[in-house]
Amino acid sequence: MEKLRTLRGFRDVFGEEIQKFNLIENVSRKYFNLFGFKEIEIPVLEKTELFVRSIGDTTDIVEKEMFTFVDLGGDSVTLRPEATAGMVRAYLQEGLYAKERISKVFTIGSMFRHERPQKGRYREFHQVDVESFGTDDPLIDAELLWMITLILKELNVAEYTVEINSVGCKECRESFRDELVSYFETKKDHLCEDCLRRLERNPLRIFDCKNSQCIDVTQSSPFLFDSLCEGCQTHFETFLKHLNDFNIVININKRLVRGLDYYSKTVFEITSGDLGAQKAFVAGGRYNNLVEEMGGPSTPAIGFAIGVERLALITSIDALSGKPSYFFAYVGEEAKNYLVPILRSFISEGLSFNYAYEGKSLKSQMRFADSLCADYVLILGDDEIAKGIIVMRDMRNKNQHELSLDPQGLAKAVLKLTL
Ligand code: HAM
Repeated sequence: MEKLRTLRGFRDVFGEEIQKFNLIENVSRKYFNLFGFKEIEIPVLEKTELFVRSIGDTTDIVEKEMFTFVDLGGDSVTLRPEATAGMVRAYLQEGLYAKERISKVFTIGSMFRHERPQKGRYREFHQVDVESFGTDDPLIDAELLWMITLILKELNVAEYTVEINSVGCKECRESFRDELVSYFETKKDHLCEDCLRRLERNPLRIFDCKNSQCIDVTQSSPFLFDSLCEGCQTHFETFLKHLNDFNIVININKRLVRGLDYYSKTVFEITSGDLGAQKAFVAGGRYNNLVEEMGGPSTPAIGFAIGVERLALITSIDALSGKPSYFFAYVGEEAKNYLVPILRSFISEGLSFNYAYEGKSLKSQMRFADSLCADYVLILGDDEIAKGIIVMRDMRNKNQHELSLDPQGLAKAVLKLTL
């Protein structure tokens, strides 16, 4: 019989990786609480139209990456390729705009894009997504970046670059379009087929092309950043000032346009050289027109998403080290009688505790402890019982300590020695 396997680009997440996912989620939630963000869970499947209207019908995501199908009721539905569209729909559908002057929300979950899988790029991946509705104040733009850097600091991720740009407002883009089109018209011979179409429909998208010839053409092109209207320029300068207040080092990248159409003014990506080709592990920006375009009141908004798989790749397992973990290795029936009282003592102290169930040899229990990456093994056999002690072995340096065999007080005694 043919073995059943996951679909291409879909993965089982387990072991060390899921531990890192949980850590990323927990640290993120801690900071979202501190900064006043509330959680929303939104559906994984929505009407296709939601994504086409918000992300833009000339983007790669909508043109070629969506998992879209007709459901049994005959409706065209799509597995969410990102969360912002659904968050805007929820903001409107649940009437948050009428209840709160500023809504700060987050969601965590799977997204789906039919891309070519490679390291850090999958067809099902996870985002921690954050959105703030109701203010155009660039203070919040800087505050979000500050919050992200605090999360990264707690995860011990130190090597990264914060790239920022402004893609202006509708007015800046409108007046810049002609200048850009006339530049690219002279370089048509060097543009790929996709970019020739982009030139007709949405020339700014050319900056997003991965084709090396197209990248070359954009090297000497005019940049929207240099043609911002006065309002957008002031917004950007104030953003820079606040970034400085928060001590955030940034790199202005005029080429940064992002792969979704809804952005206006601030856009940013956080990249790491350790990730290879898929180097952006956080990305976001302002989208001041989207809520209105989706049928709501005029509402400035800004948000970002952390790519959990990519952040996990650069999060060291050391960041997981909270309290150490313990393993109880026992030899003989009498030693096993100590298991339950010792277990109770460790769990009541909130310590991670493991053991083998069937009485195996000490050697095989030590191997088991190793496979669980236990930090300390507590060893008990007839000799130790006779002496009224239990031996604690530090698995990193193999040092051993003898502790008094007092099951109730054992966890406290161990904690004193090991923390
Ligand atoms: P995005 O740049 O399309 O933005 O995705 C955000 C992050 O999700 C990327 O930087 C990357 O880390 C991760 N990501 C994207 N595609 C994949 C993939 N195929 N495999 C693994 N990771 C991936 C958005 O999605 C916007 N909704 C962000 C946002 C929120 N803007 C405003 N609010």
